[in-house]
Amino acid sequence: MKTPVRVTVTGAAGQIGYALLFRIASGSMLGDDQPVILQLLDITPAMEALQGVKMELEDCAFPLLSDIICTDDPNVGFKDTDYALLVGARPRGPGMERKDLLEANAAIFSVQGKAINDNASRDIKVLVVGNPANTNALITQRNAPDIDPRNFTAMTRLDHNRAMTQIAQKTGKTVNDVSNMTIWGNHSATQYPDLFNTRVAGETAINLVDQEWYESEFIPVVQQRGAAIIKARGASSAASAANAAIDHMRSWALGTEGDDWVSMGVYSDGSYGITEGLIYSFPCRCENGDWSIVQGVEVGDFSQAKMTATEQELVEERDAVQHLLP
Ligand code: NAD
Ligand code: LMR
Repeated sequence: MKTPVRVTVTGAAGQIGYALLFRIASGSMLGDDQPVILQLLDITPAMEALQGVKMELEDCAFPLLSDIICTDDPNVGFKDTDYALLVGARPRGPGMERKDLLEANAAIFSVQGKAINDNASRDIKVLVVGNPANTNALITQRNAPDIDPRNFTAMTRLDHNRAMTQIAQKTGKTVNDVSNMTIWGNHSATQYPDLFNTRVAGETAINLVDQEWYESEFIPVVQQRGAAIIKARGASSAASAANAAIDHMRSWALGTEGDDWVSMGVYSDGSYGITEGLIYSFPCRCENGDWSIVQGVEVGDFSQAKMTATEQELVEERDAVQHLLP
C-alpha cells in the first residue's frame, strides 16, 4: 500500500459532495492502491450535516479511507493537502447564468486561495467545480502566489462527457467509439464543443453529421445542458458533476490514454492565441501527474470565432473581479 494522500473537498455537505466523497474513498479517483485522508470543509451551519456524512463514510468501511477530518476552518481544511476539489459555492437557479453567481461566490475563492497558499502542499492539484468555475479558479490561483499557476484547474469535463454522449447517440455509436472531444473556453453558455477534431469510430465527427444539426442542435444542447437539468430536476446536476470531477482528477493524476485527450480548464500560456493567464478549457494530455495543452489541433474560421467569443466572456468575468485579483 502507498502512503495516504490528503484530499480536501469543500462544500462537502452539499449535493455534489454527497455523490463525490464515497467514490473518492472507494478508490475511483486515485486508484485502488492509493489510501486517502479526506479533509472535509464546509461552513459552520453545515457542520452537523457534515457529521452525518462522516458517519456514513465510516459505515462503508472503505479499506482505502485512512482518516476523515471535518472542519469549518479553511486553514485546517487545506493543511498539507495534496488534492483539493473546490465544490463549495452557491448553485444557480432557473433563469440564471452561471456568471450571475460571481458576486455571491467569488469571495469564497479568494479566502480559499490564501488558505491554500498558506497551508497546502506545494504540489497540490486543485480542481474548481463551484460556478462560475473558470473565473473562480482564476481567483483561487491569483490568491495563491507561492504555488505554480499550473496547479489550478477548472472543470469542463462534464461538458466534455455530455458532448461525447450527444455525438455517440446521433451517430448510432457508443461513447467507446468517441475520442478526441474538445470543449474550448468557459464552462458557460459560450463554451465551444468542437466536432472538427473529434473522432467517432475512426471518422472525423463533423463529416458524419450536417452543419445545420451541429450549429442548431449539438452546440446549444451541450451549452444549455446544465440549465436543462436544473429545469427538469429543480436542482443542478450533482451525480454527473461528481463523476466528471472524478474523471478530471483521475486523468490528471494517473494520465490520459494513448492519442486521446480530455478537456480541462487550465492556465493559458497563450496557446491558440488565447489571452495568457486566463483559465480556459483546452484539449489536454496528462502524464506523470502533469498536463500539457495539445498543440496543432485544427482551428478553422468557424472554430476561431467561437473560441474568441468564449475567451471574450472570460476576459469580461476577469475584469469584473479585479478587486479580488492581487
Ligand atoms: P449545494 O448547495 O448542494 O452545496 C454547496 C455546499 O457548499 C453547501 O454544503 C454549502 O454549505 C457549502 N459552502 C458554501 N460556502 C462555502 C464555503 N465558503 N466553504 C465551504 N463550503 C461552502 O450545491 P451543489 O449542487 O453541490 O453545487 C456546488 C457548486 O458546484 C455550485 O456552484 C454549482 O453551480 C457548481 N457546479 C459546477 C459544475 C461544473 O461542471 N463545473 C457542475 C455542477 C455544479
Ligand atoms: C452544470 O453544468 O450542470 C453546472 O454548471 C450547474 C449549472 O448551473 O448548470
